[in-house]
Formats: sequence, C-alpha cells, structure tokens
Amino acid sequence: MANSSAQIQNICCIGAGYVGGPTMAVIADKCPHLTVNVVDLNQERISAWNSKNLRTLPIYEPGLDQVIERARGRNLFFSTDVKSGIKSADMIFISVNTPTKTKGLGSGQASDLRWVEACAREVAEHAEGHTIVVEKSTLPVKTAAAVQAILHSSNLPNKDSDKSKSFVVLSNPEFLAEGTAIADLECPDRVLIGGEDQEAIKALSNIYSQWVPQEKILHTNLWSSELSKLTANAFLAQRISSINSVAALCEVTGADVREVAKAIGTDSRIGEKFLSSGPGFGGSCFKKDILNLVYLCRHFGLPEVADYWQNVVTINNWQQTRIARLVVNKLFGTVTSKKLALLGFAFKANTNDTREAPAISIAKDLLEEGAELAIYDPKVDANQIALDLGVTETKANIGQKRNKESSLNNEGTWWAAKSLYDASKGADAILIITEWEEFRSIDWNQIGLIMRQPAWVFDSRGVVIKDKVKSAGLKLWIVGEGFND
Ligand code: UDX
Ligand code: ADP
Repeated sequence: MANSSAQIQNICCIGAGYVGGPTMAVIADKCPHLTVNVVDLNQERISAWNSKNLRTLPIYEPGLDQVIERARGRNLFFSTDVKSGIKSADMIFISVNTPTKTKGLGSGQASDLRWVEACAREVAEHAEGHTIVVEKSTLPVKTAAAVQAILHSSNLPNKDSDKSKSFVVLSNPEFLAEGTAIADLECPDRVLIGGEDQEAIKALSNIYSQWVPQEKILHTNLWSSELSKLTANAFLAQRISSINSVAALCEVTGADVREVAKAIGTDSRIGEKFLSSGPGFGGSCFKKDILNLVYLCRHFGLPEVADYWQNVVTINNWQQTRIARLVVNKLFGTVTSKKLALLGFAFKANTNDTREAPAISIAKDLLEEGAELAIYDPKVDANQIALDLGVTETKANIGQKRNKESSLNNEGTWWAAKSLYDASKGADAILIITEWEEFRSIDWNQIGLIMRQPAWVFDSRGVVIKDKVKSAGLKLWIVGEGFND
C-alpha cells in the first residue's frame, strides 16, 4: 500500500505468539487511529485470539484480557489471511518464532531463521507500494541484511498495480518479560529502534511516542539494535547463573544467598534486580539467545568469548541437575515409587509458558529415578505437561493410591493434580519449582498432616516461611541456604 512513511495508518504483524499478540494489542490500544492486523498461519491460535471468552486467549498475561476487550474489533484484528494483511500494510512487524536449530550447520546453537525467511519472501511477494519492515523477533546480528536482500530482490515493477515496491528494514527488538508483558509494554524502560532510514525511524517512533516519553526511544544502527537484544538477555541470564553459583557456595558455608543478594544488590553499581536464586532460568529467550551469541562469537573467530557465555548456560543446566540429585540423596538415595509433589511447572510465575522450564528437566531426572510425580500448576494443563515430558499421564495414580505396577518395574510416572493439597496427599516430598503466589501462603500445618512421614519440602525459589514449615514437623531445604534439619 503506497503511503508517506511518516503517516502510518495500517500495521500488519506476522506472528500472533507471545511477542506479537500482546505487543500489537498494546499498540492498537494506545493508537486508536491505526488499524492493526495480526496474522498467523496457525488457525487454532487465531481462533483463540478471536474467542469471545477472554479466559481462553492463547496466552495468559495479567491485564491482557482488558486490553483485548478495548481494542479487538475496533482497530485490532486477528486473522489467518496473511496475504491481505501484508497487502494493506504500511508497516509490517515480523514476529515469528526463531528457535535454536536442531540439525545442520550451527545445530544446537544458531537460530533457525526459516520462518523469518519465509515471512520476508511473503512480504516481498504481496506488499504493495512503500513498506517499512520491522524485525520484532530476536535475531542474530546481520539478519536484517538477509531480510533486505530478499525484499530487494522483489523490487520490481508490480505488474498488477503498475506501482513499484520499495522496502526499508528496521530492527525494533522487544524487551517484554512474560507475566509482566502488558506493564512492560505500557511503561517500557526503553524502546530501541535500529536503522538508517530517517523517515522510517520517524514513522515508527511516532507510534511509540503516543505513550512512551521521547527520551526513552533510543536510535542505533541496525547491527547495534540486533546485538543489544541478545546482549541484554545474556547479561540478565548471567546474573542468574552468578547468583545460583553463589547459592551453592552459600549452602555449604552457612551463608544465606538472600542475605548475600541483599548485601551486594544495595551497591548501586550492582543493583537489586535479577538476584533471586532459583532452579535456573527458563523461558524461550535466555538459553536460545546465549547459544546464538556463542555461535556468533565462534563464527566471528572469538572462541574465548564464546566459552565465556557458554558457561552461563552450563551453570544453569548444572543447577537443575543439582536440585534433582539432592532430592534423591536426601530421600535415602532412592525415589523409586515414592510420591513427590511438584508445585509449579511454568518457567516462572504469572505465565502458562513452559518453554525451557526448569520443572521439565527436574521432573525428567526424577522420572528417570522411578518417582511418582503429582504435578500441580495453576495455569499449565496436563496436555502441555505430557508434551514437555514426552510421557503420558498415568491416570491410575490420581489421588492417594500408589501405582503398584510402576513401583514393581521401577518406571517413573506422573499425573496432574487439581490443587497443591491433592498433590501433597501421601507425598514423601514437596518440591516448589515455580514461585506462584499461592505457594507463599501454604497452610503447612494442614500439609504436614497429609504427607507421609518423614516428609520433606524442597524450596527451589526461597518462598516459604521457614518457621511455619518446620513447626509443621517437615524437613526443609531452601535454595542458597541448604538443609534446615
Ligand atoms: C526475558 C527478558 O527479561 C526479557 O527482557 C526478554 O524480552 C525475554 O526474556 P522472560 O524470559 O519472559 O523475559 O522472563 P524473565 O523474567 O526475564 O525470567 C527468565 C527466567 O529467569 C525465569 O525462569 C525466571 O524464573 C528466572 N529468574 C529471573 C531467576 O531465576 N531469578 C531472577 O532473579 C530473575
Ligand atoms: P514468540 O515467543 O517469539 O512470539 P511464538 O512461537 O509464540 O514466538 O509465535 C510465533 C508465531 O509465528 C506462531 O504462532 C507461528 O504460527 C507464527 N508464524 C511462523 N511463521 C509464520 C509465517 N510465515 N506466517 C505467519 N505466521 C507465522
């Protein structure tokens, strides 16, 4: 669609996922003068975004339902008609998945850019007039060059409309965190726009400046913008691996990681955020982005830099294995046919996202040891857990009954509990993996009565009130503090 680039009227976002959905919802909400079309190939996802019942939106984010209610049908539309979305747009956001490659060159590290490339080709084919293409997905440095190459290869006269196409590529990475996505979008620390074309930069800045103060809108070149996103995630993840490594040291020395975190966090140069020790970071970004950074460093001949960042992931994997191992060790060296309540499966609180969740690796290790897991998460359903564990739910375990068959053949089993109390009935141990609010106020006296003694609580998030657990007669381990028996 031809336009003067500073006068954007019609936006299309390709990809209605965790990033595209909430980001476009907030843009539409804040800019009622714009038409925002979010398109995706996944019919099920689009139907869920269009669902009348706001509780069944495809992702759970506090406050998202209200934003959708205000904007959907007014100037925010969800559709599978990718072609029309592209055709009518002045500005197109690419917000598709960029997972780590699982085979071929760079397997296990490099980002798989096939979806980005497919998008670029679709945009090249269907766009009309002048179009600003904005990279929203997190991408390796220099991806914009590939996107530009694909777009410009189609820079031929459009036979149907007799108008020529032209494209400008900008990078505008998203820094929202899940669980706080709406607040992060409505009140961002900064908005980063990378690119060279001043008209296009102005057009995108004009959108954000409807609600973001001008001084928070940063402009860089394309490569700095792409690299800043990877680096921001790498720095955040590095802090978590740092505090988790200190947690292990605290546990063996009698120090308390929360006291250490407070002591160092009050130094304004260090800062207090992202110093909570836990079961290791999860989520779709941190591991993927660091591995991508590692790959780029090797690619550009910087093996020492690559090794440095690789260790952030290594410590994270170690933390998860370490927790599973210490549970087994404390339960007399075996969890075979013991019932363990696993509280929390999402990678962090306030989201239903389980991508790279520490619960997956910990649960798999315990299943391998033959445990019976009762898994409870307020937002993650049994189907998702089955997909993540690659093991079907053993319904026979539901309730208190122990599964005789599995205890004979040493195979681990799991079932999805309806409440934390159901999960805890007859359990030998409770493992807190996600810091959901309801786990902070558990009635430990009640729990103590329904578990099998001697009973253990392993708190990998440091959320329980120690004295309440202990006075209920339960043995306790807290990350970064160790055993309290
Ligand atoms: C992250 C970045 O924060 C965000 O800017 C980027 O756009 C996407 O990646 P997200 O993965 O949604 O966001 O969540 P985040 O809050 O960063 O948490 C990531 C992981 O680190 C979670 O598993 C969380 O539990 C863990 N974490 C976080 C800790 O273990 N300790 C902390 O102190 C903070
Ligand atoms: P993110 O967390 O980055 O938002 P998601 O995996 O949640 O990633 O969402 C990406 C979305 O992009 C998916 O819903 C997927 O169906 C969609 N998608 C991928 N490729 C295309 C494409 N070529 N056209 C339209 N949608 C696409």
